[in-house]
Amino acid sequence: MDGDPELISVARDLLADAERIVVLTGAGVSAESGVPTFRGHGGLWKEHRPEELATPEAFRRDPRLVWEWYAWRRGLLADCEPNPAHRALARLALALPGRTTPVTQNVDGLPHRAAWEVAGARDPAPALPLEVHGALHRDRCSGCGSIAERPDPVDATSAAALPKCRSCGALMRPDVVWFGEALDPEVIGAAFDAAAVADVCLVVGTSALVHPAASIPSATLAGGGALVEVNVEPTVLTPAARVSVLGPAAALLPSLLDQVAEP
Ligand code: OAD
Repeated sequence: MDGDPELISVARDLLADAERIVVLTGAGVSAESGVPTFRGHGGLWKEHRPEELATPEAFRRDPRLVWEWYAWRRGLLADCEPNPAHRALARLALALPGRTTPVTQNVDGLPHRAAWEVAGARDPAPALPLEVHGALHRDRCSGCGSIAERPDPVDATSAAALPKCRSCGALMRPDVVWFGEALDPEVIGAAFDAAAVADVCLVVGTSALVHPAASIPSATLAGGGALVEVNVEPTVLTPAARVSVLGPAAALLPSLLDQVAEP
């Protein structure tokens, strides 16, 4: 199903009337780029146990196994491109700079690529989302915390081959938030600040089950704003949404957002 036109129209009006918009995206926004979601059919967490792979304990126990999984995920991403949903969100944020705050739970970097692509000669900054769960294309030192971009594939064939910190020699790890870890307070704080003053929180492609990110829409509701949801199926947020449009993000977002983004 590609969205009820009446609901799309109501959602579009809400967004067009909004002075401030916060956008929260989850794995569903990248589904049509070929990135697996976490909990859906064929989702990453259906095939792997999070506690075996995405925790600090798992990394201490078997860093090679953890790196092997992330190397596989990075390899998947190498073949993925931003889709029309990413580009529609980038156009919106670039059209309303200072009025739109994009926030993503995704670590795939696709919104950044869409932002650069759509911005062309313009500054992409307004369309670069707050990445509340980190980013797969960066490493972080498990010892001193220093950050490094990682353009090369990681060799996870042996523990000895794993990447080490250039400053302190400790093992590098993916710069993503694992279960049991705190989010970067500045990044998640900025997301909540934007949500608290937003007239509309547009929530796209998230099951809204992982907190604190899943509580971002509640901050908008608490501030008197409205929730607009786009998802292929109802979620825990649906009962609180002013409008919930069912359908795939890549099909819906261009028609939902492009008129809002027009000058
Ligand atoms: P989930 O896999 O939990 O949820 C994906 C959501 O996207 C579901 O609600 C689907 O119905 C919806 N969906 C799937 N395909 C879609 C499409 N084409 N268009 C629109 N919606 C679609 O992923 P997240 O909610 O993002 O955290 O998961 C949140 C966090 O859980 C992730 O950031 C990750 C994971 O643990 C960390 O790794 C810290």
